Amino acid sequence: MPGKKVLVLGSGGREYAFAWKFLKDKEVEEVYCAPGNGGTKSLCTNLSLDINNHKQVLEKIIDLGIDLTVVGPEAPLADGIVDYLESNGAKVFGPDQYASQLESSKLFARDIMDEHHIPQPRYKKCSSIQDAIEIKNSWGLPLVIKADGLAAGKGVIICKDERSFDDAMNIMFENPQFGEASRDISVEECLFGEELSIFAVCDGDSYKILNTAQDHKRIFDGDKGPNTGGMGAYSPTPLSTKDIILKTEEKIIKPILKAMKDRRHPYKGFLYIGIMIVDGDPYVIEFNVRMGDPETQVVIPLLDSSLYSLLDDCIKGRLGSTTLRISKKTAVTVVLAAKGYPNSYSKGMKINGIEKINEGLVFHAGTDFTDGLLTSIGGRVLNVIGFGDSLIDAIDSTYKAVDKINFEGKYFRKDIGQKGLNYK
Ligand code: AMP
Ligand code: GLY
Repeated sequence: MPGKKVLVLGSGGREYAFAWKFLKDKEVEEVYCAPGNGGTKSLCTNLSLDINNHKQVLEKIIDLGIDLTVVGPEAPLADGIVDYLESNGAKVFGPDQYASQLESSKLFARDIMDEHHIPQPRYKKCSSIQDAIEIKNSWGLPLVIKADGLAAGKGVIICKDERSFDDAMNIMFENPQFGEASRDISVEECLFGEELSIFAVCDGDSYKILNTAQDHKRIFDGDKGPNTGGMGAYSPTPLSTKDIILKTEEKIIKPILKAMKDRRHPYKGFLYIGIMIVDGDPYVIEFNVRMGDPETQVVIPLLDSSLYSLLDDCIKGRLGSTTLRISKKTAVTVVLAAKGYPNSYSKGMKINGIEKINEGLVFHAGTDFTDGLLTSIGGRVLNVIGFGDSLIDAIDSTYKAVDKINFEGKYFRKDIGQKGLNYK
């Protein structure tokens, strides 16, 4: 049997992690990444494609004889890339456009969960400031205000007081920052508890849990400052007890898969379940229809069995007979970011020291590699990943490696994983 050719769509650390893993799978002969980054350029073959141009992607798939395409980010999924590629005969892993609404419309997700009694915060759809004020007067503050549509991870505002509520109304309705995405909003009860993410792969009928992780979304230590795409993560988290996993499977995963099947859009793809634990029970904060970034950078290296055969089994609808092998180790990733991130940041910094890392891994995100020179071109530049038999060992190992890499203005959080130590 000839080796398989795999195409990974996207350009971040998540996509580097996929490409890195596929190269280890014995079924895989060749890996392409589009558009990729400065690291995937050396790791595999970068293709300069516009992944939002579905026709261009299909032509490349046919041209190169790609056996499996994996979609990293949410935007192409929400745009229906899976529907288009599949209807043209390509084998692609990800949910269709309808099912992608679990992420691309917060209200679609909330309504379907409501219909199937999946535990979630109380919420109300609002389409004007007046609607939202009525809810505030009835429920009181704090409230969480969410743009219905995709807003690059910035569409959620926690309103603790009148002022932040007024600001949210301004951002959503008066001077809309997210355009059409906030034509409707979800006004939600604000839950309090610990958050974790559970990652599953689904074939439409059944699912397997890949692992759990905890992200660190704020820019500063101690979860302070503005939100980012994620500054670091660790996997698994001690918050994911057997009881929490079991409740998540019974009350969340099984019902949502059934709901999507009933709507004749069986859910195939990665499912990222963001939950908050309140009084020992999991509540859905959000679904994402893809893997997380940087969570993938810790979840995927802990998968000991083949990613290719797992996704192939999903596409063929035979996940039930697949056995996953997951490492018992703990993984930690620290994001090295450019100075200024998540606001405007500097680019073009020369990166040194990666070759000095002898333990752990370095996955590239916002890098460029041209004429033998590795430089930064993104806000989140590199992911350093360390492993250990315990979380504390994994943290130590990761930070030792972090110190060896340098670029001007290198910024990183010093407390990745510390939360997890407190849960033990
Ligand atoms: P999301 O983009 O939906 O993950 O929201 C960003 C962050 O806002 C989450 O990680 C939570 O910390 C917080 N959040 C969102 N919805 C709620 C809610 N209903 N109650 C409390 N916190 C929330
Ligand atoms: N790290 C959060 C996300 O990927 O949405």
